[in-house]
Amino acid sequence: MKWTAPLAVAAAALCLASIQAYDECPEGFIDFADVNMSPVCMSFVHENTSWHETRNHCKSMNGDLGQLTGNLHQKVTHFIKHRPEFENKTFWIGGSDVTMEGRWVWVIDDTDIPRGTPHWFPCNGSEPDGGSFQNYLGLLPPGYYFHSLNGYGFRSGICQLF
Ligand SMILES: *[C@@H]1O[C@H](CO)[C@@H](O)[C@H](O)[C@H]1NC(C)=O
Ligand SMILES: *[C@@H]1O[C@H](CO)[C@@H](O)[C@H](O)[C@H]1NC(C)=O
Ligand SMILES: *[C@@H]1O[C@H](CO)[C@@H](O)[C@H](O)[C@H]1NC(C)=O
Repeated sequence: MKWTAPLAVAAAALCLASIQAYDECPEGFIDFADVNMSPVCMSFVHENTSWHETRNHCKSMNGDLGQLTGNLHQKVTHFIKHRPEFENKTFWIGGSDVTMEGRWVWVIDDTDIPRGTPHWFPCNGSEPDGGSFQNYLGLLPPGYYFHSLNGYGFRSGICQLF
């Protein structure tokens, strides 16, 4: 029932078309859930497109860009690092501060993305940076931490079913 509660709120707030529940991930998606939990279905797309185009691609798969909260970020990072086909690839995920500069939210449900460790690029504590020129969230190697980026870059993407 993990799926329905947040989605009912999101659907009420954003008039989403439908509420879906998954017993297992459809073909093309990988389950990142902890054992015995509802599926967390993610798909890695190598579209090499802008944030918006990648998001549209996720929507065409009945999903949206990924919401890498909690240890899901760590699990996805671990997965990427162990797949040679992802070497040097950068990924769009579903965060933005385009609605209000400096307020980073997950676009799927408008929830806040906490600053700092463990998610944001921590080297010198400088991410997010770039102000109103960098309003979209991505993962960059080698660490795959969160980076604020210009949305027009050509990148791969991480889609998720909600
Ligand atoms: C992505 O697309 C851009 C523009 O078409 C191109 O310059 C770049 O080489 C492409 N990168 C990859 C990894 O395909
Ligand atoms: C990744 O980048 C490194 C350093 O630039 C390079 O040596 C390597 O060939 C790249 N790998 C791929 C698969 O592009
Ligand atoms: C942090 O690192 C980034 C990227 O290397 C750099 O642009 C920025 O100026 C640095 N910030 C500080 C406070 O050192």
